[in-house]
Amino acid sequence: MLASKIVCCFYFFGFCGLVVGQYVPPYTEECRSGTYPPSGPTFKGQAPWYKINLDISPRQRWHQLISDKKAELNSLIQGIKDLANAFFPSGKLVELVDKYMGPLADTLPFPFGDEIKGIAEAADIPLGEIVLFNVFYELFTVCTSVVAEDKTGKLFHARNLDFGLFLGWNATTHAWKVTEQLRPLVVNLDFQRNNATVFKSVNYAGYMGILTGIRPKAFTLTMNERFNIDGGFIGILEWLLGKRDGMWMGFLTRQVLENATSYEEAKNKLAQTKLLAPAYFILGGNKSEEGCVITRSRAASLDIWEISLKQGRWYVLETNYDHWKDPLFLDDRRTPAMKCMNRTTQANISFGTIYDVLSTKPVLNKLTTYTTLMDVSEGKLETYLRDCPNPCMPW
Ligand SMILES: *[C@@H]1O[C@H](CO)[C@@H](O)[C@H](O)[C@H]1NC(C)=O
Ligand SMILES: *[C@@H]1O[C@H](CO)[C@@H](O)[C@H](O)[C@H]1NC(C)=O
Ligand SMILES: *[C@@H]1O[C@H](CO)[C@@H](O)[C@H](O)[C@H]1NC(C)=O
Ligand SMILES: *[C@@H]1O[C@H](CO)[C@@H](O)[C@H](O)[C@H]1NC(C)=O
Ligand SMILES: *[C@@H]1O[C@H](CO)[C@@H](O)[C@H](O)[C@H]1NC(C)=O
Repeated sequence: MLASKIVCCFYFFGFCGLVVGQYVPPYTEECRSGTYPPSGPTFKGQAPWYKINLDISPRQRWHQLISDKKAELNSLIQGIKDLANAFFPSGKLVELVDKYMGPLADTLPFPFGDEIKGIAEAADIPLGEIVLFNVFYELFTVCTSVVAEDKTGKLFHARNLDFGLFLGWNATTHAWKVTEQLRPLVVNLDFQRNNATVFKSVNYAGYMGILTGIRPKAFTLTMNERFNIDGGFIGILEWLLGKRDGMWMGFLTRQVLENATSYEEAKNKLAQTKLLAPAYFILGGNKSEEGCVITRSRAASLDIWEISLKQGRWYVLETNYDHWKDPLFLDDRRTPAMKCMNRTTQANISFGTIYDVLSTKPVLNKLTTYTTLMDVSEGKLETYLRDCPNPCMPW
């Protein structure tokens, strides 16, 4: 009974895709240039910085951030509940989430169970809703990530995070409601131990996992969703039903950023740990040719695709499709992104030219919430909030 309700709850979010009311033709454009430093209508400000102190208890460490973002987090969760109630007007779905998802916090590995309780307390939101909210990020991220090496061997790692597909289309504003509500939750985090940075990340306040992060001087890491038949829904269903030998993807990336000290160590952990859902891990190191895309099934690494200067491959770029296969024709962000990377050439790669690539439609689209640029050798991470005014692809 519980299982069927939960399946139903997940299907509901997939189903929203079928009711997107409006057809919007594809919008593509010539490779952009001169977009950096960011300005104009596609730029909505820089993400603010917060410190997360790993020396204080997991239950306390998110308190400051969540207190500051309480109103925005509540409004997002209310938005998701409104969507749910539009499908199940009895309010039963939300009731079930509150009742059954909350206790699952106790099954999460340390420190995530305590952290999630601390987040729910600080936000004044039922624990089950925060648990569900954390599940979402593992399942609805469509993105573009790239690791590139310049002529001097310096590595850059950048990404667009596109999120909110199928989560409510507003036909008046031509925007995804959830994507709009997420933008004010984007924060840069500086995770510290003994008052020193261990790693930095970009998060939506309320989510404990990591989709984008840097361990200064050592490596950079991003995660992209990988859609697959044996996909996240099955793994998460198994986890809900008590088979818990797989790891949440966003928790693995966080553990790697917290504990691994080199590119090789990070690569091995990302390739070998059993997961709840398939994923792409995009990893950059700190010296020449250290950049790869790890294509994961739940059980194992299927492929590791690395920068290889000998083969003329000075960058690796990943959207949401296996690199050896064609992307879905309705959603080809890879070809335009690679076209613009190729035009830029290795001689001219920089924060500025990578930002140009990530600002070119449809690499930039209606789902894009932020663009992050990372430079491992300088330990630098910059996050820009994005918008894509019409005409613009909905994904
Ligand atoms: C669409 O967005 C506009 C502006 O934010 C808002 O006033 C309107 O209520 C939204 N429509 C729906 C159906 O949510
Ligand atoms: C961190 O810095 C603060 C203020 O500068 C100081 O009070 C505290 O003792 C330091 N903590 C550690 C673990 O060094
Ligand atoms: C690169 O990372 C390795 C492993 O963490 C470290 O020993 C080395 O000093 C780093 N090199 C640079 C140039 O930062
Ligand atoms: C970009 O260059 C690479 C390497 O030369 C090539 O394999 C790829 O097809 C090019 N892609 C596009 C879209 O131009
Ligand atoms: C790349 O840089 C070189 C030298 O700085 C310049 O001549 C060339 O026009 C640049 N190419 C592009 C595509 O910007």
